[in-house]
Amino acid sequence: MANIVAKRGMRHKVPPQRGCVVGLTYDVKPDYVLKKGDPEDANAEFDHPDTIDVIKDAIESGGHKVVKIGNVRKLLKRLKNLDVDIVFNIAEGVSGRNRESEVPVILEMAGIPFVGGDGLTQGLTLDKIMAKKVLISEGIPTPAFFEISDIGNIDGVGIGYPLIVKPKQEGSSKGISDRSIVKNKRELKRQADWVIRTYKQPALVEKFITGSEFTVPIIGNEKPEVLPTVQISIDGKTNLGDLCYTFSRIRSDTLSYVCPARITRELDRKLKEVSLKAYKAVECRDFGRVDIRVDKNGNPYVLEINPLPSLSTEDVFMTVAKHMKVSYNSIVNRILDYALERYGMR
Ligand SMILES: Nc1ncnc2c1ncn2[C@@H]1O[C@H](COP(=O)(O)OP(=O)(O)O)[C@@H](O)[C@H]1O
Ligand SMILES: [Mg+2]
Repeated sequence: MANIVAKRGMRHKVPPQRGCVVGLTYDVKPDYVLKKGDPEDANAEFDHPDTIDVIKDAIESGGHKVVKIGNVRKLLKRLKNLDVDIVFNIAEGVSGRNRESEVPVILEMAGIPFVGGDGLTQGLTLDKIMAKKVLISEGIPTPAFFEISDIGNIDGVGIGYPLIVKPKQEGSSKGISDRSIVKNKRELKRQADWVIRTYKQPALVEKFITGSEFTVPIIGNEKPEVLPTVQISIDGKTNLGDLCYTFSRIRSDTLSYVCPARITRELDRKLKEVSLKAYKAVECRDFGRVDIRVDKNGNPYVLEINPLPSLSTEDVFMTVAKHMKVSYNSIVNRILDYALERYGMR
């Protein structure tokens, strides 16, 4: 380990301008075989192997060399002899609310620079309730909520229906279906019970925000660049009412991204401002994405912050690249360059 730290330290004195060796850490779907009793969306967060190759090609188009490492176990095996200047981390981890923190913490311990948020930011945001506490303390609007860890112990609900019931610490719309929206105590109990049993974690119950939905990608550090706002369209509609971004809709291709968003300048300004505040509040680094729901009166509510948003070419970063008339490769390299700059390597 000491060697690695020493080597890294030496490298930093002569920062590589171009042509770094970039390790790539990731979780791909084939690494995880569904076990009996797993929910059908158990591996929803993991990347398709093609995405890894696309990211590798993108980084190499920036003049770097890429070493594919893989998941946290493979990283651990190779750690002692890992000869890379920086790691581009998109590993989601397998289980627990610290799963996205595992790779960043190991890299930090080994003194290896890496792209993206550190372990604290990843863990804090994966646990949506912890993240909401930070948002609230910073005065950033987020839907009213409560937690259920035992359905035998639901006191007065306190927030008017409809509510949405979600797993507390999942992503990629895991555990979210039309049944997640509940209109009375019976439905609330039924859905909270299902979430707790299926995902083995408390349920997060939130005020359901009827209206429209947006996601705002951001890159950079000291002066982050807020990229164009992306609007969610479901079944061709951007006025979503009570439709939401569910796991089955992702699979059935009824979701699409609209960019530029069909909104007033004023709302766009508001969404960007709130997103940037949220990005800074949880100390995202290099890149991130903020999911927001807007009610019928134009009030934005931050649902969550993703410090490890998908870089798949079917996802939001590709959508904004097209709108900005820049290549996908250049966006990936901007993210990497922000990380290199942060470490004084550029
Ligand atoms: N409070 C809410 N009101 C309305 N829709 C919501 C709310 N919370 C979640 N949703 C819907 O569920 C989707 C997934 O929720 P989100 O909190 O972003 O979790 P994930 O980490 O799975 O993306 C959102 O994109 C949105 O469509
Ligand atoms: Mg989301």
